[in-house]
Amino acid sequence: MPLGWFSVGRVHELTDDVTTVNAFGSQVVVWKDADGDFHAMDPYCPHLGAHLGVGGTVEGNCIRCPFHYWEFDTAGKNTVIPYAEKPNRKAQIYTYPSRVVNGHLVVWYHPHRSVAPTYEIPQMLAEDAVLGGGFDRLVSSQWQEIAENSVDMPHFKYVHGTGTINPIGKLTMDGPFRTVESQQAFNTSRGDFTGDLVSNSLGSGMGHIEFKLFGTVTLISAITPIDNENVHVRFTFYHDGSEIAEKIATPFVAEVERQFDQDIPIWESKTYLASPALAPSEKPVTQLRKWAAQFYA
Ligand code: FES
Ligand SMILES: [Fe+2]
Repeated sequence: MPLGWFSVGRVHELTDDVTTVNAFGSQVVVWKDADGDFHAMDPYCPHLGAHLGVGGTVEGNCIRCPFHYWEFDTAGKNTVIPYAEKPNRKAQIYTYPSRVVNGHLVVWYHPHRSVAPTYEIPQMLAEDAVLGGGFDRLVSSQWQEIAENSVDMPHFKYVHGTGTINPIGKLTMDGPFRTVESQQAFNTSRGDFTGDLVSNSLGSGMGHIEFKLFGTVTLISAITPIDNENVHVRFTFYHDGSEIAEKIATPFVAEVERQFDQDIPIWESKTYLASPALAPSEKPVTQLRKWAAQFYA
C-alpha cells in the first residue's frame, strides 16, 4: 500500500454524523463534531473493543461509544466514563491527520503512524466550480497500476479505440507532484475537437485533471487503498458554469467512465512486472515508476 493523503469520501456525501469507510486494510470511522469539523479514527473502542461506527453517536465535540457510553474527544482521548469519576488517561483512539481539500476529506496514511505528513495537497478546485457528475469503482488492483495508465499512450488506441497514439506531453515532476500537459481528441456529435489537457498528480491519492475545450471541465480523481489487493476509485467532475462547459461535461464524464470500465479487466488480471520489456517511446512508464517509488515506506 502506498503512503500519502487518501480520500475517505466526498465531503458532500459525508452527511451522516458517523460514517464507516473501508481503507488501509481496516476501517476508518469518520465523524462530524458540533462545529461541523470532520475527524477520522480507528474503529475500535479501547475500553472493550466495540465498533464506534456501529451505533456510536456524536455528543458535542466527542464521539460516544455505543457499548458503555465512554466518550472520546477530537484527539481520540477519553473524556468521560459515565460510571467513573475520572476518564481513563491511557484510553486513546488513533486519530488520522485529516484535511478537507478539493471536495474530499483526505487522511494521512503511513504504515508507520509516527511519521507526520511529508506534503500537503494544494486546493486546486475553483470555489465556484459546478458539480457535473461522477462515479465510484471498486477495483481489484493497485494505485500504481491505475496511475501508470495515464502515461501508457499505446493502450489508448488498443483498449479505448482512439484513432492514433498521441505522444505524451510536457512532463514536470516536483517532489510528490507531477504534471503532464497534453492534448486530447474529443468526439462530439458536431465532430472531433482537440482540447488541452493538464493532468496534475497531487501526491499518490489525488489527481486534478483540467480539460479545456471552449469551457473548462475538471476531474478530481481519488484512489484509496482498501487493502493490499483493492482500491476505491472516486472520480468527480466539475465545470466552470458556462453553458458550453455544462454541455461538454456530460459526454466527457461518459467517455472517461467508458474508458475506465475498459481498463478494469486488464488491471484486475494483469501482473506487475518489475522489469518490463518496453518500446523506445515508453520511457514515461519508467519515469512514472521512479516517481511513484517515493510513496512506499
Ligand atoms: S467498549 Fe466502548 S465504552 Fe465499552
Ligand atoms: Fe485506460
